[in-house]
Amino acid sequence: MERRELLRLLASAGALPLLAPLASLAQAGGTADDWQAQFEASSAPWKIGFATPPGDFPLTRAAVRGRFPDAVAGTLFRIGPAGHDLGGERYHHWFDGDGMVHRFVIEGADVRHQGRYVATSKRTAEARAGRRLFETFATTPPGAEPPTSADSINVANTSVLPLQGEVLALWEGGSATRIDAGTLDTLGLKTWRADLAGMPFSAHPKVDPDGTVWNFGVGSTQGLLALYEIAPEGTLRRAGVVPVADMPMVHDFAVTERHLVFLLPPLVYDGRRKGTGESFLDAHVWRPELGMRALVIDKQNWERRQMLALPAGFLFHVGNAWEEDTPRGTQIHIDYVRSDNADSVFISNREVMRARRVKTTEPHLTVATLNLASGRATQTALAQEAEFPRIDPRRVGMRHRQVVHATQIRRDLPGFGAVARTDVETGRSQRFVYGQQTMVEEHVFVPDGAKPGWVLGTVLDFGRQKTLLTCFAADNLAAGPVAQATLPYALPLGLHGAFVPA
Ligand SMILES: [Fe+2]
Repeated sequence: MERRELLRLLASAGALPLLAPLASLAQAGGTADDWQAQFEASSAPWKIGFATPPGDFPLTRAAVRGRFPDAVAGTLFRIGPAGHDLGGERYHHWFDGDGMVHRFVIEGADVRHQGRYVATSKRTAEARAGRRLFETFATTPPGAEPPTSADSINVANTSVLPLQGEVLALWEGGSATRIDAGTLDTLGLKTWRADLAGMPFSAHPKVDPDGTVWNFGVGSTQGLLALYEIAPEGTLRRAGVVPVADMPMVHDFAVTERHLVFLLPPLVYDGRRKGTGESFLDAHVWRPELGMRALVIDKQNWERRQMLALPAGFLFHVGNAWEEDTPRGTQIHIDYVRSDNADSVFISNREVMRARRVKTTEPHLTVATLNLASGRATQTALAQEAEFPRIDPRRVGMRHRQVVHATQIRRDLPGFGAVARTDVETGRSQRFVYGQQTMVEEHVFVPDGAKPGWVLGTVLDFGRQKTLLTCFAADNLAAGPVAQATLPYALPLGLHGAFVPA
């Protein structure tokens, strides 16, 4: 049944499985504008985080204070949008830029960094042309051509998944891109099975304690959610699709021992906007009357699904989820970063591209409980402003307490000024404040056997125009860095990363 559904999906969607509206939108074309000039004219010192590096960063040694612990010996891979402008045209959204993948190779007091643009077919074709050729997530460049497939506009800029010695550079509209973990060479698109070529593979796969990888992809026009189960050795076990009415933008999800859990914000794809010149982002409509739906799918039988309701809200990211059997039935606990609305994706993440800071609603760490027996869902917001939540990778889908996240929103800057570790059961939190001239990126938790472990992450010090890599003791962030590496340059602000021990 699942396979038949999948084949029907592919047959009906043709060469553009899930981003079909982009073809007609791109034909509408955009008009030249002054975003590049506005960006260049801005005196905002933080704008370097959204500047376009002219090329790759060759392997470079950082200046290191202290010594990175043995458990942190290995490689932190990171990725983010970096190619924001070309030929005098600047993208209108942070998420549009061509992806650059980074590796920080850590060994005691020695840290080396390398960064390379992912050589997607889109980037290669546009570099050759010297101008933008294709529509992206939120920008329609002048003269843009219709994409020939979802992967013809794949920017590979969102997250990384280390798998079987390679690194997959992830986007969410199309395929993952294979990257050589040692050289950062682009090896080509990842095809899980021939009939799945070009299907969307989202940027936040979840890895069970046994190594099983779960992921999804959103088919906006078809109202279908694609699901993937991948064996620890990297081969596809199962793929299928499930229907979702009023398909929203879904960026992340969670797994528990027995379930896949999707929080569906009421930011809904509206096919009627297709062809009116709107970007893919602007084809989405905020429909708070739908609330935040929680879709729970049985891991073993994707036909067994349940929908629960939470108050309307928006999220990019989930920390973790876990389930317990209680006298009142099975309960799923899920923590996520909730905002009252989607203004951050429509406004603040756009305006930074012309170096403007626009404050939008603050995202807060929020804990929801889904009772599968009663069908009731409740939630509690914690005090902490948060983004980029990460947990101990050994606790995925299991009961956890600690979430590492960026925090401390400031009025005058985009992003965050501190890194925190918050207990989602008690709300207790500790933090390290980096300083007034910094913007904090995602920090990851690095396990160290039975010890408390480490927190590892990057920050842009725009005062010094440098990027720093810092390690903290996970149980004592407030004590400050155990070790810190300073690169001789600033990197564009990125999105997500993954640590691979040596
Ligand atoms: Fe993300």
